Amino acid sequence: MMTSTAAVSIEHVTKQYGTGAQAVAALTDVTMAIPIGEFVSIMGPSGSGKSTLLNMIAGLDTPTEGHVRIRGEDLAVLSDDARSDLRLHQIGFIFQSFNLFPGFTIEENVAWPLKFIGIGWRTARDRAAVVLRQVGLAAAIRTRRPSELSGGEQQRVAIARALITEPSLLLADEPTGNLDTRTGQAILDLILQLNTERKLSVILVTHSTFAATYGHRTVELQDGRIVRDVRAPRQAGRLIPIGA
Ligand SMILES: Nc1ncnc2c1ncn2[C@@H]1O[C@H](COP(=O)(O)OP(=O)(O)OP(=O)(O)O)[C@@H](O)[C@H]1O
Ligand SMILES: [Mg+2]
Repeated sequence: MMTSTAAVSIEHVTKQYGTGAQAVAALTDVTMAIPIGEFVSIMGPSGSGKSTLLNMIAGLDTPTEGHVRIRGEDLAVLSDDARSDLRLHQIGFIFQSFNLFPGFTIEENVAWPLKFIGIGWRTARDRAAVVLRQVGLAAAIRTRRPSELSGGEQQRVAIARALITEPSLLLADEPTGNLDTRTGQAILDLILQLNTERKLSVILVTHSTFAATYGHRTVELQDGRIVRDVRAPRQAGRLIPIGA
């Protein structure tokens, strides 16, 4: 099947919230394919459907119409367990609102996806230490709770958690929105490095035109529709764009 080569294939996806007069069309007939190893930036005004699109791709919510395939697998035909499994093994998700567990320590928050996969605590903890270092957090914060961290630090914990399973697809919803310029750039550089070295496919939602230049391609949403889809040389990483 042709679509099996794509990391993500979105086919005529429409998402409607509510019914009748209250219905909101968050996405309308969105079609796009993301080849393995591609880094796509998604832009668009608030309410244009960016987070909704990421939720559809992660299988956290289901389209009203259309299909989403991850490496050729149609999410709609998978059982709930199979979908959770695919999410756990293949997808790293950095949520716009962090979604950290308040009662868990930082270390536990970062390590839990590995525990879920069945990896022992000692290994999971060592691996958590590695990814926390990668996102620029000191080892000393490991035993703190999320409420004892700044917003930017919590953001980096969420990023570490998304990367710990070494996913093949990273969905990042404004990952640098709460970070100062320097830290934000360091995170983007890390994502870029994983994209080039490990062929991590990346979908980055951002309001920043600077962050968007890390991608091979920028897709712009407006009122739930794709209004622009352009490839441009990457400015940030001095890399040769795919297809050049
Ligand atoms: N659970 C929901 N129930 C009803 N409407 C929703 C729901 N989630 C999102 N919407 C609506 O769908 C539209 C798209 O929302 P979405 O969160 O995808 O926007 P966004 O592009 O991520 O915006 P932002 O940049 O502010 O994060 C908005 O009009 C929003 O109000
Ligand atoms: Mg959003």
